Amino acid sequence: MKLALVGTGYVGLVSGACFAEFGYQAVCIDKDVSRIENLKSGKCPFYEPGMDNLLSKHLKDTKLLSFSTSLSDAISDADLIFITVGTPSKRLDDEADLKYVWSVANEIGKNIKKYSVIVTKSTVPVGTSKEIKKIIGNLVSDDLFDVVSNPEFLREGSAIDDFMRPDRVVVGTENKKSEKIMKELYRPLYLKETPVFSTSVETAEIIKYASNSFLATKIGFINEVADLCEAVGANVQDVSKAMGIDQRIGSKFLNAGPGYGGSCFPKDVKAFFSTAKKFDVDLSIINAVHKSNQNRIEKVANKIINFVDNKSVLSFLGLSFKPNTDDIRESSSIKLANYLSQKGYKINCFDPAAMKNAKIKFDNFNYYNSAYEACNNADAIVIGTEWNEFRALNFYEISKIVKMKKIFDLRNIYDGSELERLGFEYYGTGK
Ligand SMILES: NC(=O)c1ccc[n+]([C@@H]2O[C@H](COP(=O)([O-])OP(=O)(O)OC[C@H]3O[C@@H](n4cnc5c(N)ncnc54)[C@H](O)[C@@H]3O)[C@@H](O)[C@H]2O)c1
Repeated sequence: MKLALVGTGYVGLVSGACFAEFGYQAVCIDKDVSRIENLKSGKCPFYEPGMDNLLSKHLKDTKLLSFSTSLSDAISDADLIFITVGTPSKRLDDEADLKYVWSVANEIGKNIKKYSVIVTKSTVPVGTSKEIKKIIGNLVSDDLFDVVSNPEFLREGSAIDDFMRPDRVVVGTENKKSEKIMKELYRPLYLKETPVFSTSVETAEIIKYASNSFLATKIGFINEVADLCEAVGANVQDVSKAMGIDQRIGSKFLNAGPGYGGSCFPKDVKAFFSTAKKFDVDLSIINAVHKSNQNRIEKVANKIINFVDNKSVLSFLGLSFKPNTDDIRESSSIKLANYLSQKGYKINCFDPAAMKNAKIKFDNFNYYNSAYEACNNADAIVIGTEWNEFRALNFYEISKIVKMKKIFDLRNIYDGSELERLGFEYYGTGK
C-alpha cells in the first residue's frame, strides 16, 4: 500500500514512520520547508523517544519513508491520503480552527488522479469529514475517493508504542469499499488482536472528543477533590489510590496536579462543548471541567504566593506539558511560571528536553543546564513536570545550595516527610 500523510507534526510523522514499520511506503508532506529539509537528513523536529531510530531505519535502510513539500507529487499514486494537520482553537473562540483541514481538502481535490481513501486523522468536530467530502466532491467525481474518519489516540512521550500497540483503532466509514481498505491497512495490528471498531463517520469523530473530554474530566475532578483534601488535612494520593482500585473507576488520570495542558485536552474539551452548542446540546459537565481547569493556574499560583513573597527566586523543574516530550503547548508548568513571573518572581528553570522551545517564547525565564544549577540560590523549588530524572534528586546536596528550603511538589512525586527531615518546608498537591 502507498500512503501519503499531509501534515508532518507529532501525529503525521509518528504515523508515517510506524506505517513504514508495518511495511508500507509512506510519504510525509509538510508545507514547512525547513522541517522537511531537516527530516530528509534524518533530523526529527521534536523530542519523542524512539523516533530517531525509526526515522533512520526507514529513511536510510528500508527507504519506505520519504518526505516532500509537494502535495501534488506525493498524492498522485497514493492509495490512502491522511490528513494530519493541526486543529487548534480559534484565537477568540472555543471552536476548533479548521482552516488547515479545509486547505488540505482543497489541495487534495485539485490534485487527486486515481481512487484514494481520504483519511481524517486530525481531531475534528463531528460533521467535518462530511464537509471534506463536499469540498473534494466539488472538484472531482465522487467515485475517485471516499472519506473516512480514523481518529488518532497516540500520546506524546509514548507515541510509537501507542501507535504500534493501541488499545483500539476506530474507523468510521460510509461504505464497504473503504471499510475493507482500512481493515487491510490495520491488518498488522488486527493480527496482534487489537480491536478495530468500525462505526459511522460521525460516531468515530465523536469517540475521539468524548474520550479526551472524559480523561480531562477525571483530572479536573481529582484536582477539585485535592483542594478539599488540602482544606481538611486529608491526602488526595490515598483518595486516588483507593478510588482507582475500583475497576469501575480505574487509577489512570486520577493524579492531582496543576491542571491538564498539552496540545490536545484544552482545545478538544472546548471544541467538544462548542460543537454540541451548535446542535443545541448543552455539554454542561465538559464546560465546567474547562472552567475549573482554567482557574487552576491562579489557584496554584496563590498557594505559592501565600508562602513565598514576590521578588523571590523560584526554581522551576520541568517545563514541558508532561514528561518525555519537548512540547510546551498549553503547558501548566509554563503557564504558572509565566503568571508568577508577571507578579515579580524571578524564574530560574530547567527541563531535560523542552528548553529550546521555551527559550523561543519566554525570554523572561533564566535557563540552566541541570536541575541542580537551576536550584542554586532558590527561595523555593517548584516541580512542574514529573520527569523521571526529578524523582530521585539529591536533596541533601540541594539543601546546601538553596537560599530557602521550600518545595512545591505540584505532581506529588516526593514523600514530604523525607524532605521535611532535611529541613524543607514541603507543599504537595492535595496533601
Ligand atoms: N499531538 C498529539 O499528541 C495528538 C494525538 C492525537 C491526535 N492529535 C491530533 O492530530 C492533529 C495533528 O496534531 P499534531 O500535534 O501532530 O500537530 P502539529 O502542530 O505538530 O503538526 C501539524 C503540521 O501540519 C503542517 N501543515 C499545516 N497545514 C499544512 C498544509 N496545508 N500542507 C502540509 N502541511 C501542513 C504544519 O506545518 C505542521 O508541521 C490535531 O488535530 C491533533 O488534535 C494530536
